[in-house]
Amino acid sequence: MAITIQQLLKWKQQQRSIISLTAWDYSLAKVLDEAEVDIILVGDSLAMVALGHSSTLPVTLEEMIHHAKAVKRGVKRALTVCDLPFLSYQQSLAQGIESAGRILKETGVTAVKLEGGHPRIIELVKELTLIGVPVMGHVGLTPQSVNILGYKQQGKTPKEAERIINEAIALAEAGAFAIVLEHLPTKIAAIITDAVNIPTIGIGAGVECDGQVLVTSDLLGLSDRVPPFAKAYVNLREIITNTVQEFAQDVANQKFPPSE
Ligand code: KIV
Repeated sequence: MAITIQQLLKWKQQQRSIISLTAWDYSLAKVLDEAEVDIILVGDSLAMVALGHSSTLPVTLEEMIHHAKAVKRGVKRALTVCDLPFLSYQQSLAQGIESAGRILKETGVTAVKLEGGHPRIIELVKELTLIGVPVMGHVGLTPQSVNILGYKQQGKTPKEAERIINEAIALAEAGAFAIVLEHLPTKIAAIITDAVNIPTIGIGAGVECDGQVLVTSDLLGLSDRVPPFAKAYVNLREIITNTVQEFAQDVANQKFPPSE
């Protein structure tokens, strides 16, 4: 059964944890979907983990669409969400609607994600929801603002915490169907989770969120650097290296391919 936004809302009420991971191509998406990940996010972190950039800023709308099409081909069950990349929605309402519309029309994903809770972003969330584009919000550490925020934990001062809580509430009131809470104190994430009637999906925001998301290359031990709040559950880099060396040795020793 394909997962719907209504299902996610029900899971929040039932306190059933929501599992989300990122994907950037067909084969990874297919494995994650078959492992019953609930939300597969084509995150703009693919700029770093799939394209080798040093931040999420350079990835283009065309590149996001290209990767989201591949991901969508691999998914039958999960709800699919694609990030609106930097400067594809911040210039005007019209630009945001055009970019989000292209993502839905050209890739077949169900929803878009955008960063921040400034009143201009809230207006865009309202407009998108009005025309039928489901929106996932993202507050706290917003990597598209790395040049202002850095990668440090957000919401540490009472003033900052109040702003982020208000942004999350405004996103929910504007019609967002879920909100990513990134790198926030557990207490702030818990306040937001209590205050909104849509699921909160945490990354570095503690156990009290309605669900958790990780960048899949962090989970699998493939990333160059794993953020302090993430966890590599397996060292795939080492497994791949050993496998490649075994193959090379078999070729050198004429054990592969088999003679028959
Ligand atoms: O781009 C991304 O992978 C994300 C997750 C960290 C939530 O936004």
